[in-house]
Formats: sequence, C-alpha cells, structure tokens
Amino acid sequence: MIKFSALTSAETIRTPFYYYDVELLKKTLSLVKSLSKQYDIDCHYAVKANAEPQILSYISSLGFGADCVSGNEVSASVNYGFSPETVMFAGVGKTDEEIRTALSLGIGCFNVESVPELEAIDAIATEMNRIAPVAFRINPDVDAHTHKKVTTGLNENKFGISDYEFESAIAALKKCKSVEFKGLQCHVGSQILDVEEVYELECQKMKEFAEWFEQKGIEVENIDLGGGLGIDYEDPDANPIADFEQWFKTIRKVFGTESKYRLHVEPGRSLVASCGSLISRVVYVKQGRQKAFAIIDAGMNDLIRPALYGSYHKIENMSAYWQRKDSNMKKYDVVGPICESSDVWGEGRALPDTVRGDLIALRCAGAYGQVMSSRYNLRDLAPAVYSEEL
Ligand code: LLP
Repeated sequence: MIKFSALTSAETIRTPFYYYDVELLKKTLSLVKSLSKQYDIDCHYAVKANAEPQILSYISSLGFGADCVSGNEVSASVNYGFSPETVMFAGVGKTDEEIRTALSLGIGCFNVESVPELEAIDAIATEMNRIAPVAFRINPDVDAHTHKKVTTGLNENKFGISDYEFESAIAALKKCKSVEFKGLQCHVGSQILDVEEVYELECQKMKEFAEWFEQKGIEVENIDLGGGLGIDYEDPDANPIADFEQWFKTIRKVFGTESKYRLHVEPGRSLVASCGSLISRVVYVKQGRQKAFAIIDAGMNDLIRPALYGSYHKIENMSAYWQRKDSNMKKYDVVGPICESSDVWGEGRALPDTVRGDLIALRCAGAYGQVMSSRYNLRDLAPAVYSEEL
C-alpha cells in the first residue's frame, strides 16, 4: 500500500493528482549516487521520464548529468541546474534550431543517430564558430526482451547507426571541420528485467565496437550504455528500488575495473517510477450483469501507459485500506472517464469493496506518467503533490 501520511489532506485535494514519495526518491538517488562512485560509472538522468522542475532541480543538485531528447529538455536541464558539460543530447530528428540551442549552451555531447545528422551538426557548428562534441549512437542489435514499443537497439531501427554504416560514418567524420569525436553510445530498450543477460551482451558488443573504431584510428574516450533498467510494477512495496547494483556490476564485469574507457549510463524510469502514484477518486461504481465497473476520475490522458502499451499499474483502494480494513475483496474493471474504450486501468482487478468517493492509487506512475499526459477531452492536467519539500 502506498505510504501516504497525508491521506487526510488528500481528502481535500482535487483529484486526480500525481503524488511523489520524496523519501523514496531521495533514498533511490542516494543509493545510485554512491554506486555510481563505487563503480566509477557516470550517471545521466533521462529527463524524458519526468521533467517536473522540483525533481530536475533535486537530481541536478546531487551532481547527476542529464540525458535529453529535445532542445527544450536541454534548456530545461541547464535551467534547473545540470552542468552543461554533463548534458547529452540524443534523438533521431534534432532540428537546426535545437542543435543551435545545444551548441550555444555548451552541452557535453551530441549522441548522433545518423550520417546526415552528423553533417548538419558540423555545418551549424562551423557557422557558429563552435566545436561540437559528438558520440555515435550505435545500434548494437541486442534484444532487450521487453515490450516491442520500447525496444530500440535491434537492427533496422530508426535509432542509431548500425555496423554496416560504420565505414561511411567514419568517412563523414573525417570530413567534419567543427566536431570533436568523444565516443560511442547505445540504448537497447526500456523496462529491462533480464539485467545480466541483456547488459552483458550490450556491453560486450559496445566493447568490440570501440576496439574496432580504435583500429580504424578513431580514438574512443567514452562509452555510454544508455538506460533501460526495469522496476517491479507488480510488487513495488517488496522491491521499491531497482537492482542498480546488479546493473553496475554487470557493466564492470565486462569492462573490468581498469578499463581505459570512461563509462556512462542514462537511467530514467528506475530513478523516478516507483516514487510516483497517480491518485484518483471513484466517481461511480456501476454494476453490470457480469461484472462491476469502478469508474475513476483519472483517465488515459493523465497516464497513457496502459492504453498505449498495455502496461500494468498496481491499483490500490486507499480509503478501504485505511478506513474499512475488514472489507471483502471483489473483482472490478477499473476504468477512466475518457470516451475511448482503451481507457481501462485494469480488468477483473481484486479490490476491497469499493464505493463512490474512495481514493484510488495507481502505483509506479513516476516515470512516463505526468510527462506524457495531455489535455484530451479538454481535461485539466493532473498537478504534482510532494510528500515533503524536495
Ligand atoms: N536513453 C535513451 C537514449 C532513451 O531513449 C531512453 C528511453 C533512456 C535513456 C531512458 O530509459 P529508461 O531508463 O527510462 O528505461 N514511454 C515508455 C518508455 C520509453 C523510453 C524511451 N527511451 C514507457 O512508458 O514505458
């Protein structure tokens, strides 16, 4: 059950809202910070997971770098305290304007996803009289064993440069006037749970690619292994913090402790997902012929993951848990108010007897939740509420 000491105040806050457990966020980040030091792996927060100003400011204050995928994310990262030299900029469709923004802010690295992009960055940097630091985003053709909509590292993907393009990328690099080559980056997918298997393969491939580039006379200083570490959506109370130690250990197992490469990672979900819940209220309980529907006031516009990917979010009836401990369990289809049949939070979910007005928590909504919300049906955006000051 969500730890929510402010339940009484939740009774008065307008639902739906995003609730962030600051204690868990801080605990997660401080663990990652110390592991990142212990394993000597630089950590760049993937801003796309949650770009709330307080969260960005807090993460930057701990000395994390940022991993961005748009000019606005780059600007926000710098505005909220990330040092520009720790900011990476990935994305397959960087526009000229975004490239200019990143160059003028002096970011640490452009993760270049194609030869035409490399040429554009070089031309713009030349025109601005700047040197652009670049890394090649490699497509390592590794299966992340995850949902196909969040797999990115397989061959013939819109992301990254594949091995059959390496020669032409090197030829293009040699023609550049205003770029400095920094290394290689990759990201094979998200919500990865087969940590050892997937990352060991990813790291081995990246190491081989780095050695290949060096044989061609291209010095590789940095290797960035992307993000993707998965969390426990089924039982977030049993496992509130992802297995960062296993991740870092696997990376070091392949590269060794004396590796000449500076290693980087870009976690998003694993840093912020578990600490966030979407808090909603039951508007109506509707008894059908075969089943009961709990209609809540949070919709797919607030959290699109179940509708978009069929993702599972644990549903908890907070009011029953705190106020009616002896309630019987019953099955409900928990649905939202949006006029779309995919606006479903869960079918046949076992919940304590649920009534109009009950507060419902949709767990593990801290990543790709608030940031992917929309105003569809002209609904208001769910605001953020923090358990304590960040
Ligand atoms: N680096 C790059 C280049 C990425 O594309 C991503 C995520 C990350 C790092 C961070 O990955 P994470 O550690 O968060 O898995 N909206 C989807 C997830 C999309 C992930 C996109 N890229 C979801 O809700 O599951």
